Amino acid sequence: MAIVMVKRDLLTIDDINLEEVIQLIDLGLKIKRGIIDVSKDLNGKIMAMIFQKPSTRTRVSFEVAMIEMGGHALYLGWDQLQLGRGETIADTARVLSRYVDIIMARVYRHADIAELSKYSSIPVINGLSDLYHPVQILSDLLTIQEVFGKLKGLKLAFIGDGSSNVCHSLLLGCTKVGIDISVATPKEFPPNRNVLNKAYDYIRVSGSYIKVTDDPHIAAKDADIIYTDTFVSMGFEEEREKRIRIFIPRYQVTKNIMSKANSRAVFMHCLPAHRGEEVSDEVIDGDQSIVWDQAENRLHMQKAILRWLLADV
Ligand code: CP
Ligand code: NVA
Repeated sequence: MAIVMVKRDLLTIDDINLEEVIQLIDLGLKIKRGIIDVSKDLNGKIMAMIFQKPSTRTRVSFEVAMIEMGGHALYLGWDQLQLGRGETIADTARVLSRYVDIIMARVYRHADIAELSKYSSIPVINGLSDLYHPVQILSDLLTIQEVFGKLKGLKLAFIGDGSSNVCHSLLLGCTKVGIDISVATPKEFPPNRNVLNKAYDYIRVSGSYIKVTDDPHIAAKDADIIYTDTFVSMGFEEEREKRIRIFIPRYQVTKNIMSKANSRAVFMHCLPAHRGEEVSDEVIDGDQSIVWDQAENRLHMQKAILRWLLADV
């Protein structure tokens, strides 16, 4: 009887169960500490990386991870592909599946990465869509585990755009592993209702809590982690003036907001940072900021994800 291999995708935190999240964090930390050698895991494997938007961390960490694991990565700009001239996503997926072993894509519309996954016979990783940024948040959970030695029972406050991809994936990631999460966002930018419902499903299992408020001081109170992201995500540039007017006066992470958190709280940001908008220089450059370790850990988590999806181990 033929064995049918079911391919795995990573489009959202919902594609991965709690046990797998914990295993990926453990694996990523072992890779970082040199306890596991992954340098030959992906010998001869090739990744196609499709980018419809700019990227520094996601692109470079995935490309370096592939190279350091013995594989190779192809950077494919959306407009350099025939996709940019109207070839369908489905046809592109069918063709790339004949050439490469895995696809990572950064797109505007989440529906487009779902389409890519549907017609690919190989694993597809979401490198950010308008709705989710799962690989960022898996890496952030690794960073939190590294800093605090635990996940369950911690409190994270997200201050900023509650309707953003990063906030959505944090809502799912935190509630899955048992981190309490408070989101402070203006009433005009609430988290997506379906994402919130999914997070409420998760807390029935993990026992953590979710709070959504428009008051950043309430959200930050007693937090172990203060997290923010840009007020103007890629694709929302035409709303820049309105967003800046609503967000900056109340939601910029300043020393004052940090002072509401635990005295040993850390500051996290997925980056790129817009200094003077979502965060002040003194916070991002201050003693509580762990943003550079957070960025480094993208590389270690990408290796863990690639080994999980691709390596014959
Ligand atoms: N945090 C993150 O995904 O950064 P890039 O946009 O540089 O990839
Ligand atoms: N929310 C941001 C994340 C960037 C990594 C954006 O989508 O632009």
